[in-house]
Amino acid sequence: MEKAGVLYEGKAKKIFETSEPGYLWVEFKDDTTAFDGLKKELLDDKGALNNQISSIFLELLAANGIATHYERLLDDKNMLVKRLHIIPVEVIVRNIVAGSMSKRLGVPEGTRLKQPVIEYCLKSDELHDPMINLHHIYALELASEEEMKSIQEQTYLINDVLVPYLEGRGIALVDFKLEFGRHSQEGVILGDEITPDSCRFWDISSGEKMDKDRFRRDLGGVTEAYREILKRLKEGES
Ligand code: C5P
Repeated sequence: MEKAGVLYEGKAKKIFETSEPGYLWVEFKDDTTAFDGLKKELLDDKGALNNQISSIFLELLAANGIATHYERLLDDKNMLVKRLHIIPVEVIVRNIVAGSMSKRLGVPEGTRLKQPVIEYCLKSDELHDPMINLHHIYALELASEEEMKSIQEQTYLINDVLVPYLEGRGIALVDFKLEFGRHSQEGVILGDEITPDSCRFWDISSGEKMDKDRFRRDLGGVTEAYREILKRLKEGES
């Protein structure tokens, strides 16, 4: 497996073409950003931690019959994934109120929702990922009704797998962001990452934040929290 030219460089990941058609090489960077790149820092080991954490979650989903782009780990900072045409819609799932939902609706952080909430945002850094609804998605032809039905079904299934898995490790899955893409043979499947950069994880016993909010809110101990997440995921594996 040879790494070829850079296809795309994002804030936290760099994507390369590979010698194998249909597969991409993903490098998880140590760069950490928030507020659309306004706040930036290099955090040692963050790339390696996110690579390993995401691989564990994506393997867990595959074991539960949910197709993802994940193929295999290449080394501590790199993974091989199937090439997808990413649908430019971020899918956010909320189990407990936090972050932008708390601000927007005036509901206190920590309020447990009676049922999961799914929100959609347009993937656009320049526009700060504005929230959109299914009408926008269909009218702007971002995805078809059939694709969104499949995305919604997969999203609920993913939440149903992740919530109890994390609870068993003392972690509450507060909210998270997913991205889906079109694969040449497999239809619409899960892409991107599942990491403490893209999820809110709270320690069930102490309520401590174990995710990127530690960076966004200057709480310190960012990589320590990510390392603790990886430790708990690995402990649970044995
Ligand atoms: O900021 P907000 O409260 O809407 O974020 C909800 C969840 O989605 C959080 O877990 C956050 O980390 C994630 N998210 C993300 N990328 C974005 C927007 C939100 O990973 N562009």
